[in-house]
Amino acid sequence: MSNDNIVWHQASVSHNERVERVGHQPVILWYTGLSGSGKSTIANAVDRKLFEMGCHTYLLDGDNVRHGLNKDLGFGDADRVENIRRITEVANLFVDAGLIVGTAFISPFKADRAQARELAGERFVEVFVDTPLAVCEQRDPKGLYKKARAGDIPHFTGISSPYEAPESPEVHLRTAEMSVEQAAEQVVNYLRDKRII
Ligand SMILES: Nc1ncnc2c1ncn2[C@@H]1O[C@H](COP(=O)(O)OP(=O)(O)O)[C@@H](O)[C@H]1O
Ligand SMILES: [Mg+2]
Repeated sequence: MSNDNIVWHQASVSHNERVERVGHQPVILWYTGLSGSGKSTIANAVDRKLFEMGCHTYLLDGDNVRHGLNKDLGFGDADRVENIRRITEVANLFVDAGLIVGTAFISPFKADRAQARELAGERFVEVFVDTPLAVCEQRDPKGLYKKARAGDIPHFTGISSPYEAPESPEVHLRTAEMSVEQAAEQVVNYLRDKRII
């Protein structure tokens, strides 16, 4: 929907001024992976590390956002797309404010992640939390796979809804072969290598 009467108001404090003050580049760390792959766990470990280093950060986590901003949305394809669109817009506001913002959502569809990447431009860091389905199912931290296998959860990613793995993520975490600490370290090292922090 467009409205000719809505005009963008120029901010008095510029984006560059904000970035200069926080002393690091703002980016979106876009974690993607199956349920139980470790997105929330790793994103929180990274957030803690960055916070201790004095970075300005924030984390948007799947279930938490669905309790508020996106509580009107379900899990059908159209609602998943809208879920990601809103998250991207919110993450972009945090980036504009100068923060390193983590987003921890399954985000199973390539097209949605491509849309997020396009909106965020060079500020987009895709972190593939790559954990085999069998391992996720064995971890089953919320008991969701058990329910999904019993047919109690429709459109469950990996079981009754597809997960389209990223082809060239900026960071690729094979969590079955590493600890949470090692995974978090790999993300922080990427940010260091790219001189984001
Ligand atoms: N190497 C690892 N990396 C991340 N999580 C791991 C790892 N090994 C075991 N886990 C466990 O796997 C579970 C991942 O759950 P969670 O972070 O909630 O996943 P998601 O947010 O992707 O649904 C947690 O219980 C975590 O302790
Ligand atoms: Mg999670």
